[in-house]
Amino acid sequence: MATIHGEDEKARCRTAEEEDVKKGLMQEEGSLLSSEMPPLVQHQNFWVSPKLFKSMQLVQEEFVPRADDIILATYPKCGTTWLKALAFAITNRSRHMLAHHPLLTRHPQDTVPFLELPNRRIQPLAELEAISSLRLLATHLPFPLLPASVTAVGSRVVYMCRDPKDVFVSKWHFENRMSEKLFIELGLSFHLFCEGISVCGPIWNHYLEYWNESKARPDKVLFLKYEEMMSDPVKQVKRLAEFLGAPFTDTEERSGVVDEVVKLCSFEHLTSLKVNSTGVADLIGGFPMENSTYFRRGKVGDWENHLSAEMAQQLDSIVEEKLKGCGLTF
Ligand code: A3P
Repeated sequence: MATIHGEDEKARCRTAEEEDVKKGLMQEEGSLLSSEMPPLVQHQNFWVSPKLFKSMQLVQEEFVPRADDIILATYPKCGTTWLKALAFAITNRSRHMLAHHPLLTRHPQDTVPFLELPNRRIQPLAELEAISSLRLLATHLPFPLLPASVTAVGSRVVYMCRDPKDVFVSKWHFENRMSEKLFIELGLSFHLFCEGISVCGPIWNHYLEYWNESKARPDKVLFLKYEEMMSDPVKQVKRLAEFLGAPFTDTEERSGVVDEVVKLCSFEHLTSLKVNSTGVADLIGGFPMENSTYFRRGKVGDWENHLSAEMAQQLDSIVEEKLKGCGLTF
């Protein structure tokens, strides 16, 4: 079963079967940018854009996971760019001297490919086949929408979540920069977010599915929080390295390699690099954007500059209620 959203600016959703998914696809291909909001289709309780829906189907049908794959999973705007940089730096640290590190000249988004891409038909999944093991891959797909084979073969997943209030603010800014025509006034965007209507949302379900998986299979799913990464990056980076099967040796720790990785991937350092602050590239498939779009404030609690106390409380109580009893709090 699927539902479609996005035909007008109210959070109007109607239940529909496969026919309506097709309609959503046509709608989007014909007039994505002319309508105020892109249409979303609901699939297995998650909202996806029609293009993402098609891409997800392709991933489910054709992606061949490997046991040693590492999949970096995030709800959009939870720190994907940072996680990509860190995982890439950790797993490649013996090959690259810091002075010539690829992250000095390559955008972090460009170092780890997404499984799903809006234009996967143009950039076929076969490209991922060509990557030698140990592959670092990324996804925004909710856990239930990943191919079951990912779990079956035992690929590892690193998940990063973030305070939903900061995610919302980050997402609102990002979407506004994607296209002026997609501009949605903050209040309406917030209303939809609280209704759970956002790409790959509801955010709480996205978190919950990976959280439960990390509890059930801690050796296969590592659950990280943006806020914990910010408050103690050294500790969290060591934790990440261990999970990735590339723990720092005592010698490395003593000689400051952990600190170097943290610094290399810090917001301040990455934003100081030309590759991340200038130019336009299509890094996420089908959306050429300024490279700087993936970096904004990089702060915990920036929501305070955008949301009223009432809005914050509203979102907090929704999230608290949805995550009640699972052990995950913000
Ligand atoms: P803000 O918009 O709050 O600044 P994603 O990479 O999933 O798209 O998330 C983008 C968010 O992560 C943005 O948040 C961005 O500034 C922040 N970010 C990007 N690189 C970062 C880094 N190295 N350290 C901390 N935050 C980072």
